[in-house]
Amino acid sequence: MPMLTIKPSGKTVEAEAGMSLLAAILAAGESIAHKCESKAECGSCHIYVTEGRKTLSKIQRLENEKLDSIVGVSSNSRLACQALLGTENVTVELLSFV
Ligand code: FES
Repeated sequence: MPMLTIKPSGKTVEAEAGMSLLAAILAAGESIAHKCESKAECGSCHIYVTEGRKTLSKIQRLENEKLDSIVGVSSNSRLACQALLGTENVTVELLSFV
């Protein structure tokens, strides 16, 4: 089972492969915006993945298009609702400017 570490709180929780980062972050009791309910439309669930990017599901067209339209996107950016956990540990950073 992958472990998910959430910054800035530093909380680490066990998650399940195939679960979205958004679901895992919410299950950990952290708050994260998700205004469009996982449709890759709002961009409010934008986060940085600082470790374990390669274990996540690949970025699909809808996520890519949305990320292109968001301010503050970096090479670590993902939409938490679109990125699915793999088998390895992941560290994410929640952003406060969305
Ligand atoms: S919840 Fe809207 S893009 Fe992820």
